[in-house]
Amino acid sequence: MLSKHKFLEKHSLALVIGILITVSIGGIVQIAPLFYLESTIEEVEGVRPYSPLELAGRNIYVREGCYVCHSQQIRALRDEVERYGHYSLAAESMYDHPFQWGSKRSGPDLARVGGKYSDEWHRQHMIDPRSLVPESVMPPYAFLQERALDYSQVEAWLKANRAVGVPYSDEMIEKADQHLRAQVDPFSDYYDEFLAAYPKAQIRDFDDNPRQISEMDALIAYLQILGTMVDFETYEAEENYR
Ligand code: HEC
Repeated sequence: MLSKHKFLEKHSLALVIGILITVSIGGIVQIAPLFYLESTIEEVEGVRPYSPLELAGRNIYVREGCYVCHSQQIRALRDEVERYGHYSLAAESMYDHPFQWGSKRSGPDLARVGGKYSDEWHRQHMIDPRSLVPESVMPPYAFLQERALDYSQVEAWLKANRAVGVPYSDEMIEKADQHLRAQVDPFSDYYDEFLAAYPKAQIRDFDDNPRQISEMDALIAYLQILGTMVDFETYEAEENYR
């Protein structure tokens, strides 16, 4: 046995081939079953696709590179759960393409930032982070408040997400434009219809400027929904782990 091992130690190519074979056995055992499972993510009640406005906000989040400093994944470690709340469930990011888990935290995790602050706080924080948190190293994003949201492509955003598995219906795609506007207008004709399509969506003028739908509206709508879709008062982990 030992002499055979000597052969491997003396011939690096044989050693590399040996390593490859050994590692791929482990890989096959772990990866192959995933191809036969219908879904590797347990569905959890409450998780729904993003509304058009939230999706627009998510696009801005990605465009501005917020993920460079912020993760969106609370790990099942005591310090994280005590600081941020219930650890993240896989289902909570099942409609995120691409997901925003991340591993770099110059700023806090944002997976459950929804509802933590008022819209006003977010607005002020985006315009000038250091006016609220003097030691903050977060850059200001004041221009979001001024810039009108360009949502001429909103149908295409939903379609692109549907192409990768997000269950947007034909009707949701067709009405994306009306639904986007309905979310910033509590008096919209589409109020009930919009809420039926996107339960728990928050409807209000997020940037406090009714004259235009700004990029700030979209980004705050997105931040305020993060981590709020699942009701952890009624969610039972055991049920999902059986
Ligand atoms: C250079 C790193 C950096 C970038 C880029 C960055 N942030 Fe931050 N962010 C921070 C830091 C540091 C804090 C903590 C101090 C503070 O509250 O300002 C923070 C705090 C926050 C908070 C408050 C979180 C809490 O729980 O208190 C929110 C919300 C937030 N950032 C959103 C964003 C968004 C949205 C973007 C992109 C438009 C962004 N950040 C980009 C560094 C960053």
